[in-house]
Amino acid sequence: MDLYIDTANLDEIKQANDMGVLDGVTTNPSLIAKEKTDYTRRLAEICEVVDGPVSAEVIATDFEGMMKEGRQRAKIADNIVVKLPSTLAGLKACKAFTSEGIRTNLTLCFQPLQALLVAKAGAFLVSPFIGRLDDVGEEGMELIRRIRTIYDNYGYETKLLAASIRHPMHIVDCALAGADVVTVPFSVIQQMMKHPLTDSGLEKFVADYKKAFGG
Ligand code: G3P
Repeated sequence: MDLYIDTANLDEIKQANDMGVLDGVTTNPSLIAKEKTDYTRRLAEICEVVDGPVSAEVIATDFEGMMKEGRQRAKIADNIVVKLPSTLAGLKACKAFTSEGIRTNLTLCFQPLQALLVAKAGAFLVSPFIGRLDDVGEEGMELIRRIRTIYDNYGYETKLLAASIRHPMHIVDCALAGADVVTVPFSVIQQMMKHPLTDSGLEKFVADYKKAFGG
């Protein structure tokens, strides 16, 4: 399973990249707004750090606007993936970008039929949002399982990228369900290597050694 970081913060991206397990980056307009910096410049900076796919979302919601912005984003670097909303206009833009050889990530996916249609339109990635479904009393993971089954039934090559990850158990469940990619906030990436028994066990190993041999 590929691991992407879900942030536009350069310091977090560098730290995650230094861990040696980072496969890509996803950004969105809310994440870039937090950074208070120019989106194009920040995307270029991210692409200098990370070789894998970097999702760059369009702000426009109409077909022509998405095509214009998407083409501009795609020029920033070879590893840019144009992120489009899972709407009818986004679907049309997905098909058009795919025929131009530009990879797309169809975001804000909340039901399996959106995932089915974007796969037919040639999306490189689809982003179902687990946490936001959990927030409204639906089981986000069920969407991941249903999309996995549909894609496997028909051999669609679109990668299933689980987004809106809020805690480590989401990632465990995604790995068990066969998600191709998870995109994870930096704080949750750090939690992935944490266990209190690792910390207390390590503390005891070091203390026992020092007691016996000093130092
Ligand atoms: O990249 C989009 C997605 O991961 C957003 O997550 O926590 O704002 O629902 P969240």
